[in-house]
Amino acid sequence: MNIPFFNITSLSLLLLLLSSSLLVLHLGRNNINNQMPHLLSSPSNLKVAILGAAGGIGQSLSLLLKTQLHYLIQANSPTNIHLSLYDINKEVIDGLYADLSHIDTPISLSAHAANDGKGGIHAALVDSDIIVIPAGMPRKPGMTRDDLFNINAKIISQLTDSIAESCDLSKVFILLISNPVNSLVPVVCNRLISHHKIDKGIEKRLLGITNLDLVRASTFLNELSPSNNGRMPYVPVIGGHSGDTIVPVFSSQSQLISTMDEPQLKHLISRVQYGGDEIVKAKNGKGSATLSMAHAACKIVTNFTNLLLGNVNSFESINYIPLLDHQNQPICKGSNELMSMIDNLQFFAIPATVTSSGVNEINYDILNHLNSYEKNELIPICLMKLKKNINSGLEFNVEEV
Ligand SMILES: *[C@@H]1O[C@H](CO)[C@@H](O)[C@H](O)[C@H]1NC(C)=O
Repeated sequence: MNIPFFNITSLSLLLLLLSSSLLVLHLGRNNINNQMPHLLSSPSNLKVAILGAAGGIGQSLSLLLKTQLHYLIQANSPTNIHLSLYDINKEVIDGLYADLSHIDTPISLSAHAANDGKGGIHAALVDSDIIVIPAGMPRKPGMTRDDLFNINAKIISQLTDSIAESCDLSKVFILLISNPVNSLVPVVCNRLISHHKIDKGIEKRLLGITNLDLVRASTFLNELSPSNNGRMPYVPVIGGHSGDTIVPVFSSQSQLISTMDEPQLKHLISRVQYGGDEIVKAKNGKGSATLSMAHAACKIVTNFTNLLLGNVNSFESINYIPLLDHQNQPICKGSNELMSMIDNLQFFAIPATVTSSGVNEINYDILNHLNSYEKNELIPICLMKLKKNINSGLEFNVEEV
């Protein structure tokens, strides 16, 4: 009985030593390289924080980022990438940290838990450039994403408060994965603006990740109609991130769908809209999408990392974004035009150009090229349901938390 106890103690000692030496390493580096790359919050250090890193998505995403992000650093660049892992579950986060820290990539790590005596969430967040949030309850069978709303809105509101306290809101990007994305992005936006009275342009840097819908649309289309060039087809998916609010734009791949009849196409659309349910059912009460979600999020984080490392000046991506700023003005070029086409909804998943200052231009033209089924059947249902989801988000009582 003594032996396992001893092992655990020495493991945590090792962890403590490891984390403190990492800290020293960091401080050292920051002092040496006092040339400031203007895009980053801290000199030569790109910090990605994952809030909810101990969960199913969080663990898989942490692994993908730890094994892949360093490929984006240019040769001879002094830049370090740091992954900051936060969760309320201290045991799991310490285990995750120990495990990931044996992986031979030059990405530094730190693990943080609430009340961990080392600064908790503040230490996890401070100087972050990108915050990814998979925190919250996963979906159980029979639950819709919207049933999760009340539980996750509280969790996300508390995390938003911590972000407002610890981060430079004129720089940081917040990427939200937690469901229901349709309502939680409005919760975060509203909380930052009306509760914290923040006007640092953070609305342009708050994005709900809907990329799993694009990943599914591409995969399912390719199963039915493989493209002959060996590449996966690109299928834009717009609207929201739950059931009927998800609008896959298969008409953009007219070649590949030309051989399908109407029932086949409708089935394909519905598979994308309800793809999450296939996983919830198959996991039989033990979870929802984790690996595929982490993969989809990793692609988005990769784009943001390239942007903040200065490898690109901008990229185009579909995410669920606010269309109005804190003064109810259009967030950027194209938002007025988009809003006039979507019943004045204030949030929508749409292709947009992103620069280091945030969403810069909304590329709404896709709405002008929908086929009649997408335009007259899918979009109206999407708008009707999305409006309700957005309103529940905006009406969420901040004082309840
Ligand atoms: C990442 O950026 C590239 C370049 O703009 C774009 O083609 C790609 O779709 C983006 N990926 C995601 C997942 O948004």
